[in-house]
Amino acid sequence: MDNITIVVLAAGLGTRMKSRKAKVLHQAGGLTLIEHVAAAAAAVAPPERIAVVVGHQAELVEAAVAGRGVRFALQRDQRGTGHAVVACRELLEPMGGDVVILLGDCPLLSPATIESLVAAQRGSSAAATVITTVLEDPSAYGRIVRAPDGSVAAIVEHKAATPAQRAIREINSGIYCFRGDLLWRHLDEIGTDNPAREYYLTDIVEILRRHGHRVAPLLIEDSSELLGINTRAELAQVDSILRARKVRQVMLDGVTVEKPETVTIDAGVEIGCDTVIEPFARILGRSAIGEDCRIGACSIVRDSELAGGVEILPFTSIDSSRVDRGARVGPFARLRQNARVKGGARVGNFVEMKNAELGEGAKSQHLAYLGDATIGDRANVGAGTITCNYDGARKHRTTIGPGAFIGSNSTLVAPIEIGEGSYVAAGSVITDPVPADALALGRGRQVNKEGWAKKRRETRAK
Ligand code: UD1
Ligand code: MG
Repeated sequence: MDNITIVVLAAGLGTRMKSRKAKVLHQAGGLTLIEHVAAAAAAVAPPERIAVVVGHQAELVEAAVAGRGVRFALQRDQRGTGHAVVACRELLEPMGGDVVILLGDCPLLSPATIESLVAAQRGSSAAATVITTVLEDPSAYGRIVRAPDGSVAAIVEHKAATPAQRAIREINSGIYCFRGDLLWRHLDEIGTDNPAREYYLTDIVEILRRHGHRVAPLLIEDSSELLGINTRAELAQVDSILRARKVRQVMLDGVTVEKPETVTIDAGVEIGCDTVIEPFARILGRSAIGEDCRIGACSIVRDSELAGGVEILPFTSIDSSRVDRGARVGPFARLRQNARVKGGARVGNFVEMKNAELGEGAKSQHLAYLGDATIGDRANVGAGTITCNYDGARKHRTTIGPGAFIGSNSTLVAPIEIGEGSYVAAGSVITDPVPADALALGRGRQVNKEGWAKKRRETRAK
């Protein structure tokens, strides 16, 4: 939209969260609250016309949204929402235009609602428009006191409200659009005459009225977008709403989600069509999943990439890794820290891979640790194989050539190279390189003592 500036209030600690972390850094739907609000703001105004007011843990809050190119205003002491807007004066007043105020703790607000707020303000003769809604339980919010003409006479905070005002169920969303010239002219008239001794932005309503201006309400019936987060209980409520929205969106985009109410998909996740997500799966962070995949029940995929046709069986954990087309992983497998499973490869139960690559069509089906390893195409890694990658000080690499066969319960002491097409006998401890096409036996030879057991039984019987 043209000719607007946006203030995002995000300097407070959020005492009611009972947290050491600034409120806007808590997450809902897989993103911090401030990321949600900054995204909505950036959808309606260019980033250089958006000022985020920071204070508590300013650097962390800035880092959370810096990528968007928005500006920041520092409010060193948090002396109230009115005081926070003053902190943006230098940045925004010279730009001119209408001023939209958003709250960093109100993450469900959509760009469309911000646009309708600005449109309502521009279509009226009011000095400001405030979004309001009617709630069953309004106790956490400021109340809208209406004037006889239907405009807003005052906004009264719960703490300062009289019993009659507390009975009002129309609340202040905290989201406003001001005529910029009037806001900046009268902002400094806000005082601290209230129980909390704070500069309440809400006092601007009565100030504007004293100067002969009008504040208009924009009453929105669906209050779900206006939920403000002050406690962790409200955080969980908003998280559920965002989760449900995201799951619904992926379903509408062609993904089958079984028991969607049990599935968690973060905002930044992309999923291709005809993929099936089983119950209790969690797909987190910046994960991308291709088409025709299956994500097994109770699996967790974080910051990972899965190509098309990948099957993840239940109870598998995949973190910062990549699985190529047609590969199958799990159940009960763990891929972490840059594991790569190439096309058509198989990783089975109780196999852990870390910083390791499993070649095309290669298999490690049961009980293995593959760390700092490169495993060639079509190689077969037997049950119980361990790459001994750590000598107590440094990590070393294991390289297994294409088509090699590693017998069960082998111990591969890195750094070590196992040649292409070679064969490692089961139960071996391999410390020397194995040439291509060789058989390596790294274990004591078996001795059979004929009749020993029988003789023992007979001596005991006497
Ligand atoms: C505020 C409104 C209330 C409204 C509610 C909607 C005021 C006085 N009250 O109350 O009418 O119903 O929002 O959710 O405005 N902040 C700063 N600097 C400060 C104080 C706050 O940046 O000095 C930021 C906070 O980080 C937060 C936002 O402003 O993101 C709102 O502050 P909060 O303390 O949650 O206000 P509420 O009590 O919810
Ligand atoms: Mg609040």
